[in-house]
Amino acid sequence: MNEVMQLMQNHSSVRSYNNSPVESDLLQSIIRSGQSASSSSFIQAYSIIRVCDKHNRQNIAEAAGNQRWVVDAAEFMVICADMLRIQTCSQKSGKGDLKGYAEHFITATVDAALLAQNMMLAAESAGLGGVFIGGIRNQPEVVTQCLELPEHVYPVFGMCLGWPADKQAVKPRLPVDAVLHQDRYQAASVAIKVDEYDLLMADYYSARQSNVKNTNWSLQTAAAVQEKKREHMLAFLQSQGFIKR
Ligand SMILES: Cc1cc2nc3c(=O)[nH]c(=O)nc-3n(C[C@H](O)[C@H](O)[C@H](O)COP(=O)(O)O)c2cc1C
Repeated sequence: MNEVMQLMQNHSSVRSYNNSPVESDLLQSIIRSGQSASSSSFIQAYSIIRVCDKHNRQNIAEAAGNQRWVVDAAEFMVICADMLRIQTCSQKSGKGDLKGYAEHFITATVDAALLAQNMMLAAESAGLGGVFIGGIRNQPEVVTQCLELPEHVYPVFGMCLGWPADKQAVKPRLPVDAVLHQDRYQAASVAIKVDEYDLLMADYYSARQSNVKNTNWSLQTAAAVQEKKREHMLAFLQSQGFIKR
C-alpha cells in the first residue's frame, strides 16, 4: 500500500474541531484539487458556496437537523450540482434551453460528488478533517433561499472542514469480496455477505470508544434509509429545473 492509499483508508469523518482557521491558500489548493477530478463530458457541473455568514450557517445547521459542527467548523461549504453554466453555454451556442433530463441530473450530481470527495482527500492530506452534510436536504428550500441558488443549481450536500480536535476510529468497510463481483452479479451471495458484515459491525459498534451501540449494519442502514425518505426531493429538484423528463 502506498501513502495515498494509506491516507484514503485512514479516513474517518471529523465532527469536532479546534478554533484554528484554514488558510486561504490551503483552501484554494483544496478546491483546485477537487476540480482536478474527472468530469463527465468535461461539463464541470458544480459550484461551491463557501458559507461565512454566521446567520446563514446557523440557519443551515438547524435545517440540517441541528448539526452543531456546521456552525463550529472553520469552513462550511455547500456543494451544488450546477447546470446554469451549461444552460448559458447552450443558449450562447444556439442549442436552446436545458429541458431537465434525468441524465443531466445524474451527470451533474456525479460531477459534484467527485469534486467533493477529491476536496475531502486533499484536505485530509493536509491534516484537516471534515464531514459531508447530507442533512441539508432535509430542508433544501431553506438552503436554496439562504444561498440564493438560481434555477439549474441544487445543493447536493454540505462539507465541514477544520483542524481535528478529536478523531474517531476508522469504521470497517464491507469486505472487498462483498462489493466486487466477477463477470456477473452474484445475487445469491448478498444475504450471506450481509450476515458476515453484520457480525463484524456488531463487534465494532459494541467496542468503539464513544457512542457504543447494541446494533449491526443491517439495523443501522435499514433505519437510516427508511427514515430518510425526503419525499420533498422530487418536487424540489423539479422546481430547480432538474428531473423533468
Ligand atoms: C453524501 C453524504 C452525506 C452525509 N451526511 C452526513 C450528515 O448530514 N451528518 C453527519 O454527521 N454525517 C454525514 N455523513 C457522514 C457519514 O455518516 C459517514 O461518512 C459514514 O458514517 C462513514 O463514516 P466515516 O466517514 O467516519 O468513515 C455523510 C456522508 C456522505 C457521503
